[in-house]
Amino acid sequence: MMEGGEPMGRRQVTTATAAPRRYNMLFLILLLLPLLRQARAKVTNECQFPAAWSGRWFILGKEGPIITNTSHFLDRTCISKVEDTYLTHDENPETGSCYRCMIFTERDVNVIQYRESYCQPEPDLNAACAGVGADDILYSMFRLDGRPIDCPFAGPPFSFSYNRGHGECKALENQAESCTDGSKLLLKYQACADIKGAESSREELQCLATWKDGRNMFLVGTIKPADRDMPFSVDTFRCFLYEKVHHNGKIGYLISQSGDPSCTGLTSVTEGAKTFNFTKEDKEHVRCKYPSWVTQHHDWHFLDGSRNYHFTSGNSTLKVSYRNGGNEVMREEKVVCHNLEKIHPKDDSEGLKVKLVAHVTSGCDTGYVCMIFHKRDNHVIEVQQSSQKMTMPHEACSLDDPVKQPHMTLITSSLHKRSCPKPGRYTVMDLMHVPQLKQARRMRRKRYAVSTGRSQSHWKEDSNEAGDPSDDCQNADVQIGCSSSGQNEMIIQESCKKNDIVSAYSCHGSWEEAGTWYTIVSRNRSATAERETLCVAMRLTEGNIKMGRVEQQELWLSRPTNLCQRAVSSSQWTYKLTNQGVCEDLTRAASSSGSTSLLMRVSVALSVGVTLFSAILSR
Ligand SMILES: *[C@@H]1O[C@H](CO)[C@@H](O)[C@H](O)[C@H]1NC(C)=O
Ligand SMILES: *[C@@H]1O[C@H](CO)[C@@H](O)[C@H](O)[C@H]1NC(C)=O
Ligand SMILES: *[C@@H]1O[C@H](CO)[C@@H](O)[C@H](O)[C@H]1NC(C)=O
Ligand SMILES: *[C@@H]1O[C@H](CO)[C@@H](O)[C@H](O)[C@H]1NC(C)=O
Repeated sequence: MMEGGEPMGRRQVTTATAAPRRYNMLFLILLLLPLLRQARAKVTNECQFPAAWSGRWFILGKEGPIITNTSHFLDRTCISKVEDTYLTHDENPETGSCYRCMIFTERDVNVIQYRESYCQPEPDLNAACAGVGADDILYSMFRLDGRPIDCPFAGPPFSFSYNRGHGECKALENQAESCTDGSKLLLKYQACADIKGAESSREELQCLATWKDGRNMFLVGTIKPADRDMPFSVDTFRCFLYEKVHHNGKIGYLISQSGDPSCTGLTSVTEGAKTFNFTKEDKEHVRCKYPSWVTQHHDWHFLDGSRNYHFTSGNSTLKVSYRNGGNEVMREEKVVCHNLEKIHPKDDSEGLKVKLVAHVTSGCDTGYVCMIFHKRDNHVIEVQQSSQKMTMPHEACSLDDPVKQPHMTLITSSLHKRSCPKPGRYTVMDLMHVPQLKQARRMRRKRYAVSTGRSQSHWKEDSNEAGDPSDDCQNADVQIGCSSSGQNEMIIQESCKKNDIVSAYSCHGSWEEAGTWYTIVSRNRSATAERETLCVAMRLTEGNIKMGRVEQQELWLSRPTNLCQRAVSSSQWTYKLTNQGVCEDLTRAASSSGSTSLLMRVSVALSVGVTLFSAILSR
């Protein structure tokens, strides 16, 4: 019965339908189903298109997307085949029954090319194929959702000249640069004033397929403007013919590009809708290394963890990852040290400041930036970076000096305790500015919301005006370096109506710039058991002599933030404090505070918002 196959199956079914007993019939059908299926498969198996060709495709001039499977190709079925030559059949109102010869060449998983004959009335493979030759149109099919491949041009960056058919633009700034994704190449075109169509622009090439046909090397990819996010379009497919060459010992490529989404008409690397002459750039970064006080730790990060700097082996490549609130990596940049810049000896007597040019690759956005590294402590550095990426290395520091750019403070994951600057006991005394508090606080809140990119409403959630527990705080004591032997703790105690708020910070390295001390501090957030690292700025005012007596010397303390902000404006100082004396000398300080003794007298003006500070501390 198993061997009987199809004919026997039919006979059985006939018998079964004739039988009156339905159970019997059902049983027989169930029994025969596998056989029937096998029989049908046998018929279609005879001629099939390769399964690897199934998918969604684009062919110039044919309405798409073209969906193919093993039984249908361009709505044609396979009748017979010999190797890559197929006899296909289709029916349509115009041509009626149509037999065709199709000769396929699979170039790559993402590209198939074919030639085809006209319609024939008879299913005769040899007759249909007799008329197909090299003069017939070679159709190119591009896979629509194909996986990209690495581009075949070894070792970008390249400088290039290009020609859109109106003359060659040879500007040195025409650059082909690598992207973080190896399947992409960024083409930066400079304008050539006297050449039509040679305008400044940036294009992104993504490579999809390569193949060799005799001597000719082909590439298929997509080309789209680099500066705009554009949805995929089949109009971006382009075919390239390329050849590796040597220009005076330098590797280069001659490339021609098709004018439409096909490979038709590409016959020479020097003729095409657009031609390129790539020359490999001599951009050796190897001699440039980041300073050893930076690379001695492989990982550095922002105080709030939103950015991570990782040095890879060799000490010349830096990977910067940008993280969102949920600690996911949003974006990565590769920053390769290119050359060290000289700085004035006066500017850096101890080697604590290094200026360099680095090549940055961020997706397909590449260029040179100028960076300044400042050593603050073994575990604290600061980086300033120019705001724009330049095309040429020499432009980076000369056209966009980063001295005015914000300082990005970076720390290592383990910090060591260090003594805090300006040790002593301080207190807030003068509350005469209190009426202005609310206004100032509101203003600052707004600014905070803007500067951190938070929405106003989000900020309000954190500390809404009515429910702010620190509104009632009237006084504060600050002890710097008094509570531990290493002088490495800072305690802020606020006396509030409801209860006292005490915040304890550890100091981890500080430095002085133009009279202001910046200190990296950390505290244990009791609620989450997570450590928080912040930066505090302090400034001690000069004690002026006025009307015969020494004016009270004041310590200004900024609210701790996750940036070491420069040029702190008066509204950003949270406390104005006066010194109560050195840590060990409490009683003397207290007793002398009422007199005009040599000890600095306490006269603290609360400049702006104890309340905001406390709100931050208590969060
Ligand atoms: C193949 O595609 C045709 C239409 O192009 C469709 O009718 C047929 O069912 C498909 N076959 C398979 C096995 O998916
Ligand atoms: C390509 O550029 C190189 C170097 O600029 C030059 O020597 C060579 O002749 C150019 N080749 C063509 C075909 O233009
Ligand atoms: C990288 O720098 C560190 C610290 O200066 C040094 O110990 C290490 O040997 C360097 N690695 C290489 C490969 O130069
Ligand atoms: C925070 O906790 C760590 C260990 O749990 C401790 O060493 C450190 O002193 C604490 N810091 C402060 C400021 O209390």
